Amino acid sequence: MNAIPAAVQQRAAELRAAIEHHNYLYYVLDAPEIPDAEYDRLFSELLELEYRYPHLVTADSPTRRVGGTALERFAPVRHAVPMLSIRTETDSGPDGARSFDARVRRELGLGPEAPGVEYAAELKFDGLAINLRYEQGVLVQAATRGDGETGEDVTQNVRTVGAVPLRLRSIDAPVLEVRGEIYMRRDAFDRLNERQRAAGEKTFVNPRNAAAGSIRQLDPAIAARRPLSFFAYGLGAVDGWTVPPTHSALLDALQSAGLPVCTERAVVQGADGLVAFHQRIAAQRDALPFDIDGVVYKVNSLALQQRLGFVTREPKWAVAHKYPAQEQLTVVRAIDIQVGRTGKLTPVAKLEPVFVGGVTVTNATLHNEDEVRRKDVRIGDTVIVRRAGDVIPEVVGVVLERRPADAGAPFDLHAQLNGQCPVCGSAIAREEDAADWHCTGGLYCPAQRKNAILHFAGRRAMDIEGLGERLVDQLVDGGLVHDVADLYGLRTGQLEVLERMGEKSACNLIAAISRSRDTTLARFLFALGIPDVGEATAAALAAYFGTLEALQQAAMEYAAALTVAGDDTAAARARRLKEQALQQVTDVGPEVAARVAAFFTEPHNLTVIQRLRAAGVKWPETVMERGAQPLAGQTFVLTGTLQSMSRDQAKERLLALGAKVAGSVSKKTDYVVAGAEAGSKLTKAQELGVPVLDEATLVEMLRTGD
Ligand code: IVH
Repeated sequence: MNAIPAAVQQRAAELRAAIEHHNYLYYVLDAPEIPDAEYDRLFSELLELEYRYPHLVTADSPTRRVGGTALERFAPVRHAVPMLSIRTETDSGPDGARSFDARVRRELGLGPEAPGVEYAAELKFDGLAINLRYEQGVLVQAATRGDGETGEDVTQNVRTVGAVPLRLRSIDAPVLEVRGEIYMRRDAFDRLNERQRAAGEKTFVNPRNAAAGSIRQLDPAIAARRPLSFFAYGLGAVDGWTVPPTHSALLDALQSAGLPVCTERAVVQGADGLVAFHQRIAAQRDALPFDIDGVVYKVNSLALQQRLGFVTREPKWAVAHKYPAQEQLTVVRAIDIQVGRTGKLTPVAKLEPVFVGGVTVTNATLHNEDEVRRKDVRIGDTVIVRRAGDVIPEVVGVVLERRPADAGAPFDLHAQLNGQCPVCGSAIAREEDAADWHCTGGLYCPAQRKNAILHFAGRRAMDIEGLGERLVDQLVDGGLVHDVADLYGLRTGQLEVLERMGEKSACNLIAAISRSRDTTLARFLFALGIPDVGEATAAALAAYFGTLEALQQAAMEYAAALTVAGDDTAAARARRLKEQALQQVTDVGPEVAARVAAFFTEPHNLTVIQRLRAAGVKWPETVMERGAQPLAGQTFVLTGTLQSMSRDQAKERLLALGAKVAGSVSKKTDYVVAGAEAGSKLTKAQELGVPVLDEATLVEMLRTGD
């Protein structure tokens, strides 16, 4: 045996104390004082010391949490004190609390005049019960509840749970068994499922199952990677420790000993106190970072608990008061596809009505096609439906064991809709890498019409003053307007019959609509509401193409290039698309280009655009002829950052119009175009007296050649 230098022994002790202290701050007080990286540094230093001096290792060293070999099976553990269950109050209203209080009072022989019984009220955590056995303050065994008499030895796995102290602070009694719940926080659960999904492993339906599955992992290395938490709520066997006189004082003592105790607990008086607690927690339930399925009331005085005793296997001094379940099983009758205001297509499960989260649910969102496929939801399946708070109900997962032989085929959105929007029949599309399918008939589709009209009328679009949400609702609901082109056919007489619309405001609106006819191509493109085409992209498209016809032409060419050729590889296709004019525009990547192409190839949209132009919507047209070289003989120098196009694009377009583009400024330079943050070239131009153009002037020049 290597002698361990005293200094090393001392350092190891210091490190253990420091790590335990920071664990306590982190898990119990929820108030860490050092960054994770610093904690990791202390931890690695201890690991390193223990590696060099294996005899330094103690059972309670924080480094002993990870590791251990995989088991064949868990050894049975007979509980020194049976792990009882708790009576559940079925009435989830206030009467549930009142009838518990009435029973307690009756059992204690308290008359109506006697003061209220004092209770400890706490949360009912939705995880799995665990018994932690500490001997001389050191964790020696952790066991599941099992049948209450005999559980399973899951010590190796429980050691990996950071929130479970391996050594108690200031308690070194021969035996102290602490009982509590191992659970998983919702955020940890979501991250775990994401990780499982990425690794192609099975996902868990809820945090409870994930926690239970993790604790019952035979390989502790896997359990160690599962983010579990723990709350203490009671005692098992005790030897050599004075138990405090009340349950609330007991929880305080456990917390001081380094065990995490939930802060959402209270000491209350009588039935009214219980009801108030039940209601307060109900209001907070959805904001808690973990799942609870109710609250637990315990008579606070341990002396009274003893007097009350047990019936069969349940204490008479405690009760679980549940909340309506947030998850239920039901059967999928159909999978419908809904069209949202933006054209997004959302699959929705039509369910056998089921009471969940306090309401009867008949529809649950399935989010998008990938989600349905990942969960493999089919018609006829039994599914878990979750509704938490005001969140829309969702299908959490399928109970595969219950899939009937005649269950539907795997979900295929495009096939189910025959490629057409269920509302308007326009083509549906889904860009590569995007999660959602959408209807491309943005200008025409009734599901999108109100949104489309509001957007069209917006200040930065066609700028139709006074055409707000209320009015759009009335115009559409009253059947006066079906699409944006209808706006230009409105007459004052039709408007006056609308609610809160006098002759004067009707006239004002008609005038505003009329004024909007004179616009710019950039505004018009923005007003069309092409998905992903914001103001800047619309301006870039307008600057680059100059005319609507040129843009439409490019959109058609892009759509053709999108069609997959027989021997197309992804790379070849991407290269081909990159050469398309649409993708030459600043900020227009393949996704936006595909959106633009889909929009301008949907015939319904083209009809509406034609009608808009027929109604007199117009903008200054480019006066240049194709192939004209109005800038021949002129030399330009570009400097600084342009907003509507890149310098390369500007250069290309200048060259196309016959200009020369030079790299440096000289006396021969005709114009310097200065974008944002132009530097020395701008200074040089000013010194030489070369005319300097701003971006707007350049854009105008590119458009008119003048
Ligand atoms: S006390 C003798 N307190 O609910 C009383 N149990 O049947 C023993 N549970 O699976 C239980 N939160 O794991 C108690 N604050 C809490 C609890 C709680 C959840 C679980 C427990 C057991 C079941 C009781």
